[in-house]
Amino acid sequence: MYYSDDIIEEVRSRNDIVDLIGSYVNLKKKGSTYSACCPFHHEKTPSFHVSREKQMYHCFGCGVGGNVYTFLMEHENFSFPEAVEALAERAGVKLPEQSMSPEAKKQADAKNMIKDMNKLAAGYFHYLLKSERGKKAMEYLKKRGLTDETIVKFGLGYSDMYRDDLYKYMKSKGYSDADLKDSGLVRFDDKYGGSDKFWNRVMFPIIDVNNRVIGFGGRVMGEGEPKYLNTQETPVFDKSRNLYGLNLAKKSKRSGIIFCEGYMDVISMHQAGFDNAVASLGTALTMGQVNLIKRYTDHVYLAYDSDGAGTKAALRALEIMREFEMPARVISLKPYKDPDELIQAEGKDEFEHRIEQAVSGTMFEIQILANNYNQEDPQERTQFQKEAAKRLSLIMDPLERGNYIESVAKEYHIEPDSLKEAVTKYGIAGANRIDTSVFQQRRERKSPEEEKKNKQLKTERLLITWMINESSLFDTLKDIISPNDFFEPIYHDIVGRLFEQYEKEGKVTPASIMNHYQSQEEHQKVSSIMQQDFDMEVSPGEKSKVVTDLVKSVKRKSLDHQLEAAKGDLAKTGQLMLEKAQIEKIKIKLN
Ligand code: GTP
Ligand code: MN
Repeated sequence: MYYSDDIIEEVRSRNDIVDLIGSYVNLKKKGSTYSACCPFHHEKTPSFHVSREKQMYHCFGCGVGGNVYTFLMEHENFSFPEAVEALAERAGVKLPEQSMSPEAKKQADAKNMIKDMNKLAAGYFHYLLKSERGKKAMEYLKKRGLTDETIVKFGLGYSDMYRDDLYKYMKSKGYSDADLKDSGLVRFDDKYGGSDKFWNRVMFPIIDVNNRVIGFGGRVMGEGEPKYLNTQETPVFDKSRNLYGLNLAKKSKRSGIIFCEGYMDVISMHQAGFDNAVASLGTALTMGQVNLIKRYTDHVYLAYDSDGAGTKAALRALEIMREFEMPARVISLKPYKDPDELIQAEGKDEFEHRIEQAVSGTMFEIQILANNYNQEDPQERTQFQKEAAKRLSLIMDPLERGNYIESVAKEYHIEPDSLKEAVTKYGIAGANRIDTSVFQQRRERKSPEEEKKNKQLKTERLLITWMINESSLFDTLKDIISPNDFFEPIYHDIVGRLFEQYEKEGKVTPASIMNHYQSQEEHQKVSSIMQQDFDMEVSPGEKSKVVTDLVKSVKRKSLDHQLEAAKGDLAKTGQLMLEKAQIEKIKIKLN
């Protein structure tokens, strides 16, 4: 961890969770908590709860939960230190400089240095492009229709034809060979020393959402192999979590985000006014990229190349979009190859028209399917209709499914009622399949051992929840129960921290306990315990009995384990037996 526990806790306590989350989602007050539709999964009725009292959130739908830190980590993709920094700034807390561990500081410094080197290189490439030496490159870009304004906006550049031009320039700016090696800008060879990765290419700096240059793409001018060269993976360049053009697209006023394949396509679209276009970095679309854009938009367009490879990529992208419940429409570019060619040939009005005409992902998939069959041949046509019905049966929403059936029937001249019947048939078959699998899962018998363990875990969990909700319990419990009575490691850990906190401060602060956990799995486990509320389920009169039973049960199990472990040790066994007999006398009073 980079920062001291005290600082982390101070920053946390100075950022109210309701204010913070309220600035991202529309929270509605409901009793003592606030609720909203969960920002982490798709839902129509709110199961996401935020408690001001506990300074925690939890979604009863998908299980996410935590404190202000975990919220930013999950919602903004921040690392823990980044979340600390953002919240410190938000609350006006000044973070101590030296609070980074030397190792962490070294890493952060190394990343910053690479970004600085990239920025310097981008500036140099841009300068070259505008100089006499970049004349050919400038002509190339002009020939491709780019204006001066666009060239500046995207920071385009030129890498000179000498094999070590950038290397020498960076050395003159004080960077060592070791520094340069990490940046991916220069390669080293025992015989020839340093030589530039990019030379005699038009350069496209790749800029992240925080406006830092994280890498480059370089294109040969005209014909040549490879057409594009990209920075390899470096500590700052992660192709799967960045998108070309998103630094600009995130500010766009246009509706949705347009995904395409190439740098030139992005630039061309932006120049034509479609400033919501982005491209993946020479690889297929990744989940990380969809996760990234979820913060900026709630629907997307695909403007992938119209050739076979582009279509395949689009189908795969649609699958990923569906997993993220991100509505997607597909823009047809035919007869042109890509958005750039279409805009160059037909202009921006035609592209706007194509956006309006974009078909939904489902219709696109059925179109592609239709192309695979000879519609003149009755047998093939039947086969197509079956496949189409199968695809339609996957649509969960009945109204949406009905509308699609209608559209597909019309478009492909299928008798609507037969199509509907086929969809229902495949739907039922599908549902049966799903049902049986669920059934099998349920029926998969847990071993008695496992059943017992699950029951114990539940008891431990409930007791912790009570301890948090009724902190007066600690005074009573401290002589009865200890962290060691909790079997599950994470519960053992939480109880230890709760006791420690109560000892020190006379109260418990669940949200600060969260600071100690880093993984998402832990956040979910911890928050689900802490956010639980029992007041509504248990009448005041029953509380004492419920808690007494839980304590007894946890204690009994714990002593059973200890007895098992003490087998053979008569003295110990005797003492434990005595303790066990005492359990029955436990009586907890709660008011
Ligand atoms: P132009 O020919 O300049 O219009 O480029 P384009 O964007 O139309 O290129 P294309 O559709 O061929 O490629 C799309 C994207 O794939 C490019 O922007 C690159 O990111 C990547 N790409 C293309 N060719 C290569 C290559 O040879 N090597 C690598 N690593 N990536 C490539
Ligand atoms: Mn192109």
